Amino acid sequence: MENNEIYKVGLGLWKLPKDDCAEIVYNAIKMGYRHLDSACDYGNEIEVGQGIAKAISEGICTREDLRITSKLWNTYHAKEHVLPALEKSLADLGLTYLDSYLIHFPIAQPFVPFEERYPPEWIFNPDSTSPEMQTAPVPLHETWSAMEDLIEKGVVNKIGVCNYNSGLLNDLMSYSKIKPAQLQIESHPYLTQERLIRLATDYGIDVTTFSPLGALSYLELDMAEQTDSVLTQPVVTAAAQRLNKTPAQIVLRWGVQRGCTIIPKSSNLTRLKENISIFDFELSDEEMTGISNLNINKRFNDPGNFCEAAFNKFYPIYD
Ligand code: A2P
Repeated sequence: MENNEIYKVGLGLWKLPKDDCAEIVYNAIKMGYRHLDSACDYGNEIEVGQGIAKAISEGICTREDLRITSKLWNTYHAKEHVLPALEKSLADLGLTYLDSYLIHFPIAQPFVPFEERYPPEWIFNPDSTSPEMQTAPVPLHETWSAMEDLIEKGVVNKIGVCNYNSGLLNDLMSYSKIKPAQLQIESHPYLTQERLIRLATDYGIDVTTFSPLGALSYLELDMAEQTDSVLTQPVVTAAAQRLNKTPAQIVLRWGVQRGCTIIPKSSNLTRLKENISIFDFELSDEEMTGISNLNINKRFNDPGNFCEAAFNKFYPIYD
């Protein structure tokens, strides 16, 4: 692997069960992963930190070799909560700085003190008889300004955003003093997001795509069906056969070959290895176009759907 290629595939830490998380992170670093994509909301930052500490203590890598991202949760958008939220993630991860800190969603929710509930998740009053998601009137420019302060303090190397659309990105570019370095969005062959990726790239913003395998991430959440999988598409299986790779490797390779960083999650050592072994082959232009043409603008991770279904609140952000 070329030196910079190592960072093009990060380990997504969403849904890694706490019990296995430290061991998976440790094993992932041992097999070559150097980029970890964490978040307060994933509820496993202590265990992620344990895996990192074990790898560093065994001399597998240094802290400086790693690129570690975490994300500001919706309940900490008010300016006075941004630094404490970052410090809580740092303490849990056992780190003194982050490589990247991202606004997780362009959605502000009422503050929940750490000691009351951590991570606070989406529902404001989980113990009430009518639990629901609530929103708070905190404008995104206030949150961004507090994110900029983190750079000034030297506790974060880069700042960025997740789940922004082109309108929010244009707006952010108009007022930011420190420009966003990264945009993290859902993207896979059924949701190619070419215009948003082009816009971000024109602004000099690096794009990371989550759920790079599409539906697979959402099967266990009952948010997708097996028939939604892109891995059985003939254009994918034909490329897999030609290159003697798995369909998942073809889809992941498509993700990086189009210029994005990808963050597939796996709890399985064989699949973890498979997912970083995508730098010894190339898809042809026809294969790249064929896979891009699978786009049907199918979004699996959509607050416009899941907030109403799960949290009693209609709250679209992409429409
Ligand atoms: P598993 O952990 O059992 O490997 P995400 O989209 O959040 O990154 O999740 C990826 C999903 O795809 C997970 O459910 C993961 O399950 C599965 N997965 C990861 N890598 C592969 C692979 N190489 N082949 C098939 N499924 C995979």
